Amino acid sequence: MTNPYAPYLDGCTDILSELDNKYVLSIRLNRPKARNALRTKLLDELAQTLGKASRDERVRCVVLSGGENVFAAGADITEMIDKTPVDVLNDPRTNYWSTIGAFNKPMIGAVNGFCLGGGNELAMHCDILIAGKNARFGQPEINLGIIPGAGGTQRLTQMIGKPKAMRMILSGQFMSADEAEKAGLVAEVCEPELTYDKACALARVIASKPPVAARLAKESVLKASDVLLHEGLMFERKAFGTLFATDDKAEGVAAFMEKRKPVFKGR
Ligand code: CAA
Repeated sequence: MTNPYAPYLDGCTDILSELDNKYVLSIRLNRPKARNALRTKLLDELAQTLGKASRDERVRCVVLSGGENVFAAGADITEMIDKTPVDVLNDPRTNYWSTIGAFNKPMIGAVNGFCLGGGNELAMHCDILIAGKNARFGQPEINLGIIPGAGGTQRLTQMIGKPKAMRMILSGQFMSADEAEKAGLVAEVCEPELTYDKACALARVIASKPPVAARLAKESVLKASDVLLHEGLMFERKAFGTLFATDDKAEGVAAFMEKRKPVFKGR
């Protein structure tokens, strides 16, 4: 397919990415013939792109999308054929997943169609999911004699609870967009042709907020599923206090008092 995007990171072909002038970086998975299967090269490109974006003040929010009928069909099964346990232990993909998981700015997933296996695990690395009515979520690894290997058993259980996670992971059955919304996996369901635009509109709202506060808000919320309550509360308190040292906090409060729109600079 021709690349409608001006590449944010040169040389990528498995993903397409473009930065707009509103601090929003759009990343699209781009292996339509293989249903956006997450081969090693794709994860490498995604990790490199998010690594660059994490250090780039021009990026305040990311939108991650796939195709019209498939977000991503999971790990590339053709790469699994000859893999031994030692190959899996030495797999560079583990590092790519770590980089994706460590991305420090808000990321919104726009999901249409199949969102399966590693694709669903990738979607769960997003902070907010907007799904088209045609979205189908699943962890069908059991059909291949394996289990989710990029966080699915943990993140899915945290997000939708043990009974529904067990049903998905043990049976390989898919969950509809509506059920995923009810279960807490996605924030909003819409007509498929609106998914990407809704995700971008939300990304622009988030990108208009003070970026340091947005980063610390993301980090604090993620602590809730990672540490004990008193540790999470301690982290929140320190993050809250840190923000009082920012120019953006002074600007936000001054703008409120002066009844004008704030201009945030990320300082
Ligand atoms: N890996 C590699 N190739 C894949 C793929 C995958 N995960 N999913 C689809 N493809 C390929 C197919 O082999 C096919 O290739 P050819 O045209 O060369 O034959 C092409 O994409 C189109 O696939 P289909 O004809 O099956 O397309 P469809 O639209 O009828 O069905 C689908 C789409 C439901 C996603 C189906 O392709 C499917 O079930 N894919 C596999 C899903 C899966 O099992 N995912 C889990 C992978 S393991 C994993 O993710 C481990 C982990 O936790 C990290």
